[in-house]
Amino acid sequence: MIAEIQIQELFKKYPKGTEALKGVSLEIQKGQFFTLLGPNGAGKSTLVQILTTLINKDSGSFSIAGLNPEANQSRIQKMIGVASQDNEIDPTEKVENLLVFQCRLFGLTKPEASKRANELTQLFELDKERSKKAGALSGGNKRRLHCALALVHRPRILFLDEPTVGMDPVARANFWEVITQLNTQEPVTVFLTTQYLDEADKHATEMALIIAGEIKYSGTIIGFKKMVNPNGVMSLDDSYLQFVKTVSNPETSKN
Ligand SMILES: Nc1ncnc2c1ncn2[C@@H]1O[C@H](COP(=O)(O)OP(=O)(O)O)[C@@H](O)[C@H]1O
Ligand SMILES: [Mg+2]
Repeated sequence: MIAEIQIQELFKKYPKGTEALKGVSLEIQKGQFFTLLGPNGAGKSTLVQILTTLINKDSGSFSIAGLNPEANQSRIQKMIGVASQDNEIDPTEKVENLLVFQCRLFGLTKPEASKRANELTQLFELDKERSKKAGALSGGNKRRLHCALALVHRPRILFLDEPTVGMDPVARANFWEVITQLNTQEPVTVFLTTQYLDEADKHATEMALIIAGEIKYSGTIIGFKKMVNPNGVMSLDDSYLQFVKTVSNPETSKN
């Protein structure tokens, strides 16, 4: 059976010459909680933007829910939700209105849109913020609004690009409760990028590690930890640090 997200040999070079992706291939199965890890500038956001049809690839191919994006862009956009730091929202508009507009954009009627906006403000504990302008929200609440906006149409695949930056511990816990519930109940396939490896370890089961546009590992998180340190149990944080050191400096790390 074809994977929910199937990626073959994707290449992307930006006009100024940065080769952001150098032949990325990955498979993410339906219902998986997948995390893409890697240092800043590794190519994570570039991959997310290509998969969500925001920017074009140079070569290679991918499919989303078995659909070819070239022929099915609008169908794919209805199936996916995207929350990223670069999402543009009108800072002068009220939280509540932004949610209702987004619902209307996806074809909900006015009563449906206001019901869904209510559900999402409750789900993400944005009740107190609903009449505030988006520009007046704290960083963490803005992140939560991005996620709420990404979920208005109940997407079957959710892309989260560093979603929890700026959230306090309580907001973070609430956020993951919502996301893990969607992942286990619906089930929504989750594609997460994060620099918080404890979050990835806690919530994801599958991972890939990308460095300078190349996939250096893909498989289960447990498998990654075992590969780095077959004898002991290390945190994902420690395993990641050890692995990245080895990859970037293979000679000195041999022992
Ligand atoms: N719009 C752009 N124009 C030129 N270079 C870019 C652009 N976006 C990203 N890059 C470059 O591509 C590489 C990958 O970036 P990015 O995908 O944002 O990495 P990550 O999300 O892993 O931090 C980096 O070297 C970055 O500077
Ligand atoms: Mg990024």
